[in-house]
Amino acid sequence: MAHEFIEHLLEDHKAQRRLGAQLRTTKDPQQREELRQEFWEELYPHMIGEEASLFAYMESAGGEAKEEALKAVQEHHVAKMVLRELMDLDVEGDTFMAKAYVLDELNRHHMEEEEETHFPMLQRMAQKEKLDELFEQYEEAEEEVED
Ligand SMILES: [Fe+2]
Ligand SMILES: [Fe+2]
Repeated sequence: MAHEFIEHLLEDHKAQRRLGAQLRTTKDPQQREELRQEFWEELYPHMIGEEASLFAYMESAGGEAKEEALKAVQEHHVAKMVLRELMDLDVEGDTFMAKAYVLDELNRHHMEEEEETHFPMLQRMAQKEKLDELFEQYEEAEEEVED
């Protein structure tokens, strides 16, 4: 069983996959409006939290962990840009579905890398106490966004 921090991140990913799948297929404008809000609330604080915790830690460790963290943060950067654009988009317009599709695809690719590379790497690097501390940092950063 993975540390509760990792379990928490995996649960978040599940919600992102579910919402992303709904968002990119729904045609109803009202539903699009609600789903993109839910997707924002699920994805944005999650990224900020990861950056303040596991990726900051991996970056400070140097070497391969740092390289991986820097790439992941750039992927977050792209996801945030597309997410912000989606939030400003007309829910009845032709582009909505295409942008939701691209956002969902890039986020799925990113989550796969985290699950296959970054989380296992983190678990090799960090002991339980460190993971507890990172989980706290994650939650603090997430809460700051939500305030
Ligand atoms: Fe991420
Ligand atoms: Fe993630």
